Amino acid sequence: MTDEAQPLGIIAGSGAANLLPDLGQQTRIDSDTPYGTTSAPIYQSNFHGAVVCVLNRHGEGHTIPPHRINYRANILAIAELGCEVVIAIATVGGIRGDLNSGDLLIPDQLIDYTWGRESTFFDGADGAGVGHLEMTHPYCHTLRNLLLQAAANANVRVHDGGVYAVTQGPRFETAAEINRIENDGGDVVGMTGMPEAALAAEKRICYASVNLVVNPAAGRGDQDITMDEIRDSWNIGYENLCKLLKESIRLYATLGTKSWLPNSQIMQM
Ligand code: HPA
Repeated sequence: MTDEAQPLGIIAGSGAANLLPDLGQQTRIDSDTPYGTTSAPIYQSNFHGAVVCVLNRHGEGHTIPPHRINYRANILAIAELGCEVVIAIATVGGIRGDLNSGDLLIPDQLIDYTWGRESTFFDGADGAGVGHLEMTHPYCHTLRNLLLQAAANANVRVHDGGVYAVTQGPRFETAAEINRIENDGGDVVGMTGMPEAALAAEKRICYASVNLVVNPAAGRGDQDITMDEIRDSWNIGYENLCKLLKESIRLYATLGTKSWLPNSQIMQM
């Protein structure tokens, strides 16, 4: 174990609040950035020798819908705390036939159906020039491998790979939209994966996601989606998610100052 590892960022939904007590004593950090304030304070703690920074992207009390999240402020604040690695937790609906509620999936691709979100740091406004993110591989291989290794160590079943389709929300999809997304290649559907992944890559953060399936996607279950069903599935998957995260943090701490570069690149004209 080493105490030299950079802080590890965790961006999660409102379930982040439940995770926090498990990570020990917290220091609260309120961040203001040129893009505004983060969704919530960032809570920093020391767990298994790693400094961990946890941010709830929906705000305390779940007040911020997916399309109104200040993704730029969140990523910039996390980057400025020195996090070169970020694990993103997101609940999703399952489209692929082998996915059940409560399952965990570590996506390796995404499709962005969102619109109107502030989705880049390269918006030409700050005179910093225009950069084009090359994003063939949206998730950091090194971190995906760490998550898969942690899952194996902790005896937690995860689906290795899948396409995370990111919709605008906050409404859920129609059954026809899910058919279309499946035809496009989507395996799971959620509302927060973008622009978070792209912004993290722009800040050269090694970013990967863990998806918790909380419902069959619209039209794929025996009945229409209900909040009760989502809560029940969340409770089923949560224990495994916590095990996976804790082992991931422990593994991360053992790796010390390893180099964590995202797979994507920035191209400048
Ligand atoms: N669709 C979009 N986002 C979601 C879903 C869904 O079915 N479940 C959890 N987040």
